[in-house]
Amino acid sequence: MDRILIVDFGSQVTQLIARRVRESGVYCEIVPFNRAEKAFGEMNPKAVILSGGPNSVADIDTPRAPENILSSGLPILGICYGQQTLCAQLGGSVEQSDEREFGRAMLEVKAGSPLFEGIDADEIQVWMSHGDRVNNLPDGFSIIGTSENAPYAAIADEARKIYGVQFHPEVVHTPDGAKMLQNFTHKIAGCKGDWSMAAFRDKAIADIRAQVGEGRVICGLSGGVDSSVVAVLLHEAIGEQLTCVYVDTGMMRAGESEQVVGLFRDHFNIKLVHKDASDLFLGKLDGVSDPEQKRKIIGGTFIDVFEEEAKAVGGADFLAQGTLYPDVIESVSFTGGPSVTIKSHHNVGGLPERMNMKLVEPVRELFKDEVRALGQELGLPETFVGRHPFPGPGLAIRIPGEITEEKLEILRKADTVYLDEIRTQGLYDEIWQAFAVLLPVRTVGVMGDSRTYDYVCALRAVTSTDGMTADYYPFSHDFLGRVSTRIINEVRGINRVVYDITSKPPGTIEWE
Ligand code: XMP
Repeated sequence: MDRILIVDFGSQVTQLIARRVRESGVYCEIVPFNRAEKAFGEMNPKAVILSGGPNSVADIDTPRAPENILSSGLPILGICYGQQTLCAQLGGSVEQSDEREFGRAMLEVKAGSPLFEGIDADEIQVWMSHGDRVNNLPDGFSIIGTSENAPYAAIADEARKIYGVQFHPEVVHTPDGAKMLQNFTHKIAGCKGDWSMAAFRDKAIADIRAQVGEGRVICGLSGGVDSSVVAVLLHEAIGEQLTCVYVDTGMMRAGESEQVVGLFRDHFNIKLVHKDASDLFLGKLDGVSDPEQKRKIIGGTFIDVFEEEAKAVGGADFLAQGTLYPDVIESVSFTGGPSVTIKSHHNVGGLPERMNMKLVEPVRELFKDEVRALGQELGLPETFVGRHPFPGPGLAIRIPGEITEEKLEILRKADTVYLDEIRTQGLYDEIWQAFAVLLPVRTVGVMGDSRTYDYVCALRAVTSTDGMTADYYPFSHDFLGRVSTRIINEVRGINRVVYDITSKPPGTIEWE
């Protein structure tokens, strides 16, 4: 399999380079610059991409590309900081420019470079974000593209197949950027483009069999995309050696448990333990209103229940987890310092050690959208593959304050109506996450001739690419009006509906 090595100099968008390269059908990995020398030797890539980064090449002690890469004779593409360090290291020079260029710029393309093959315009839009710029080319290089403030915006040594661009081809604001990256991986580096989900599936199955042997594997199934894909993949690989455990915390949405059992046990024929622990969770949460305490109680109780169920089926040698690539990429941090915990996330961390199990993480090389594609490849229905994320603590963090069975029931009904309207209007796939929240506030209303005194329901819907930042979804007033009318008419206990128009930051997606 052809591979590309991406050397990370700390740009915010390095992951996007990897995604674009993989979309071009070529496998790639991201490695921080200070580990790149060793990784290059181990990985045997067909080409190297140097990412952007926050530093200035003009400062002393800023990161550099390893010498073994520069002298390897392989094709290299430097992006932004990557271009500048390439230039400085190969004998050119870089200056701190007075005309900093951020945002959209027009690139005048000089004909003839394979990097721009198939791009049929003399001028194209590109995304710039830099303070420094090249002002003297190394020997062998020529200019293949210029912009108003960056005369050396795209440069190449075509004989050595070394390229540098000052703009970011990996972001969507460079509309032809994906084509340039594909030209680099296919035309320049000669990759075949045979990385696909079908190929991944076969390799993952072989790897799982090799790792697990005759061992037994236990997998916590939540009904979310990642654990569903992992479960089906493992089942294909090792069949009866796999047992899945689905813990119903009582904080699930309407019909969720039935769907999970129906799909995995009845349809896929996977050994599945369905543990209804809702009374236990509700009991422990009784009278608790602090968000962090709720999360801790649910996380802790989940682990206890999971462990008990794992023991009840006779234990296992391995625990399967849906760890994704963004969780394992070592990030380059120039700022250091501890980050603040905004919310403690719920997972089964600590369990493998406690139960003396090893980990199986078959999708740790994949991005979320690749996991979805793998799910399709494995025959998971669209309703599972395209699902919005649902947090481990479930509806508990969508009911600020104390949780009661009555409130959970009211929220389930409102959430069902809301999502039903979203699906009916064909909006589900445009939205990252949409859900209803039940506020611990009662307000006065009038229905028919009577006064009501009921709860307020808040609706949340956001767009996002990774959940780290988010914008509220701009529903039409018509749509919001219809959902509000339906919820108030159909859900007893709610007499007022509001729409949350907070972005993240400063808000978070969930309310707790
Ligand atoms: P916030 O609310 O922090 O959420 O903006 C970001 C994303 O993470 C999800 N989320 C969780 N997922 N366990 C999870 O598995 C959790 O405890 C948890 N808390 C938040 C949230 O739904 C959103 O997609």
